[in-house]
Amino acid sequence: MIFESHAHYDDEAFDEDRQQLLTSLKDYGIGRVVNVGASLESCEATLQLMKEYPFIYGAMGIHPSETAALNEANFVWLREQCANEKVVAVGEIGLDYYWKEPEAEIQKVWFERQMELAREVKLPVIIHSRDAAKDTLDMMKALHAEELGGVIHCYSYTKELAWEYLNMDYFFGIGGVITFKNSKKLKEAVEYIPLEKILLETDSPYLSPEPNRGKRNSSLNLPSVAQAVADLKGITYEEVVEATYENACRLFRIAE
Ligand code: NI
Repeated sequence: MIFESHAHYDDEAFDEDRQQLLTSLKDYGIGRVVNVGASLESCEATLQLMKEYPFIYGAMGIHPSETAALNEANFVWLREQCANEKVVAVGEIGLDYYWKEPEAEIQKVWFERQMELAREVKLPVIIHSRDAAKDTLDMMKALHAEELGGVIHCYSYTKELAWEYLNMDYFFGIGGVITFKNSKKLKEAVEYIPLEKILLETDSPYLSPEPNRGKRNSSLNLPSVAQAVADLKGITYEEVVEATYENACRLFRIAE
């Protein structure tokens, strides 16, 4: 079975067929899903999905682009939700300089606060970092991120930076981008990253792999990601599926 480590099934892109799609996942070999919060609303929706579907776990966190909505009161609410036994991580949190809003200083404040939250509730983190490689790494080092554990979601940086995150014992979320022809840098990084540190993810509904690039993504596309990883590493599809499933269970502390 495949472990989908990062999806947003609360997204409106799934409003028309969410139930049908989610109940069909097992038939296509998708065993477990972590639905990742990105805003206060999506955290609430994630809690609902966790309740409805036994195979769905959740991450509670506010995406850097959504951090302007945070305040002390709703941060207390966020902390309380982390006590839910199906909440397996704090995320997605981090820095995103591709989108200019909110300004970097606000993003940094709430990235730090959410890293502290993860430490307090003893959960690993799911890191979102886009066009912010240096600041993300500097902050993670300063905050002793290696003590928290976690995954760099949708890893898209270089092999050299992967070395830094491997030193922190982090995992790498690999998704549809690996199937794109122009992803040479990422392919080099995946060749370099040990299989024991790789998780499969889609970031659904975004980032569909080839040949579905540009269309709505779902966990049903994960086999092509697993195959791409297998081809790069010169191992079998089954080996990738099995190892990444175990890796996700280890990171999120879910019994296999
Ligand atoms: Ni995401």
